[in-house]
Amino acid sequence: MIERKNVQSNKYILGQFFTPVSICNKILSTIDVSEAIIIEPSFGTGNFLHCMKNLPNKKIGVELDKDLFIQYLDDSVQLLNMNFYDFSITTNKKLIFIGNPPFRTPAHSLSTHKKHLQWLTKKYNVPGIREEVVFFILHTIDIILKNGGNGEIHYIIPESILKNNSKFFSRFKQFLKETCCFMNITHIKGTEFEDVSQDLVCLSLLVKNKHKESGYNLFSTNIKNNEQKYVAIDGEQANLDEYLCLSNTDFIPFQKIFKKTFLGSVPCESLLMSVAGEPLEHFQARLCKIIGNKNISTEELYQLLQFNGKRHLKVFDNPYETEIVQAKLRIILSYVKNIQAKENILQEFWNKSNYKPIMGREISHYYFRSEKIKKDKNFVYELNPNPCPSFYFTGNPSHSSTDYFGFCEYDCNRNVSPGANRTVPVAGIEDNLTDFFIDWWKKNTNEPLSSIFDYIIFISKTSWYSDMKKNNKRFYFAIPMEFVPANKRILAHVA
Ligand SMILES: C[S@@+](CC[C@H](N)C(=O)[O-])C[C@H]1O[C@@H](n2cnc3c(N)ncnc32)[C@H](O)[C@@H]1O
Repeated sequence: MIERKNVQSNKYILGQFFTPVSICNKILSTIDVSEAIIIEPSFGTGNFLHCMKNLPNKKIGVELDKDLFIQYLDDSVQLLNMNFYDFSITTNKKLIFIGNPPFRTPAHSLSTHKKHLQWLTKKYNVPGIREEVVFFILHTIDIILKNGGNGEIHYIIPESILKNNSKFFSRFKQFLKETCCFMNITHIKGTEFEDVSQDLVCLSLLVKNKHKESGYNLFSTNIKNNEQKYVAIDGEQANLDEYLCLSNTDFIPFQKIFKKTFLGSVPCESLLMSVAGEPLEHFQARLCKIIGNKNISTEELYQLLQFNGKRHLKVFDNPYETEIVQAKLRIILSYVKNIQAKENILQEFWNKSNYKPIMGREISHYYFRSEKIKKDKNFVYELNPNPCPSFYFTGNPSHSSTDYFGFCEYDCNRNVSPGANRTVPVAGIEDNLTDFFIDWWKKNTNEPLSSIFDYIIFISKTSWYSDMKKNNKRFYFAIPMEFVPANKRILAHVA
């Protein structure tokens, strides 16, 4: 085992958070490794491998970061300094993957192995996700299936991956159910990791083996109609679909309410919105300098985000060296790179009509908007190219987030937590509601469709919403399937 070195720059890019030895040992003690080849796909400082030192099995350790790789020496393991997405193996032995893959959205591998990821996500029909952990799991399952399907996966992952109720993550979880048996899910305190504040779990999966029935036999008590019903969570039997937030017939997710929403963000605004009091010409000139410089450094970017020493975001009141400022700058820089990659994009920035004056809470700003950066696979946020009075609701509530709901004169609200809010243009809302939702609304009430906004605000204040947030680590906004009539809403409000 080696000492942790200063890996600050790779820490966030490659998701370098190392598993304490005590946790590695605990996880290993639950796994029957007999006869299997054990693979640690991203071994970092080698804590898992170190704990397996005395196992007689064949072991393989993969690590991308050369600096970490050369520090870990272990004769009992075949060590490979390579990208896990380039790793493959051919064997008729059982494969057991153990580790703590990098967590990061957008995944670093999107910039290095995009083609392979596109192929994987297409092959298994898991579209729309940009999270590294998900890609690691897909690649792992792919390796196991290619070798006949005899294998297990024991990965530490953020629990939010399993709780995320968005359309794409639901499909990913459905895919896991199709291809694997869930053996165990065990909570691990994020606080036991340095710098990790998320809730983590060790997810143990047994890939379904088409040729052998053993996988099913192991879990026969959990299987009904050929579908796994229950899973052991911290040793207690729990309903799998409920845990995975897949049994969601009792609520209507926002995607089933609105046909189209926009996703604004604080980092986007810090780049694309002018500083208070900044003339249009100044804002335009500095944006053109940023977008025109393909080799722009974080420091240059920081300099160019200001007008009269002021920057758009409060977080920039902190000193340049602080991690909070550096982290924000890294995000903004990734947006800049995405924008720069578009063809002839600079001329969009020279076009004055793309700078929309919008009224903030007290002062007016200019916001750069263009169809060309409205949506891109690499650009997380979908901005409305024509800012207009909008309703905003929380984009991505976690169990402890402070959420915001309300109306604004433009389609993003600024300086709020969490960073991402969804917006819906207020005018013409009737045309932006799904047929399913219109049917449901009309069956329940005579109120105009435009009352949906007040209804959402009401729901956001109910205990139903706070319970959903609490129970689902990553809850994308939804309303209960059971309609709350107007008279009950008033009573609830008075109470
Ligand atoms: C969360 S750390 C965990 C390290 C180790 N598994 C542990 O539990 O302590 C993730 C590790 O994955 C490595 N990594 C990131 N992307 C990788 C890739 N595509 N292939 C192999 N390793 C990768 C990082 O350098 C980092 O060491």
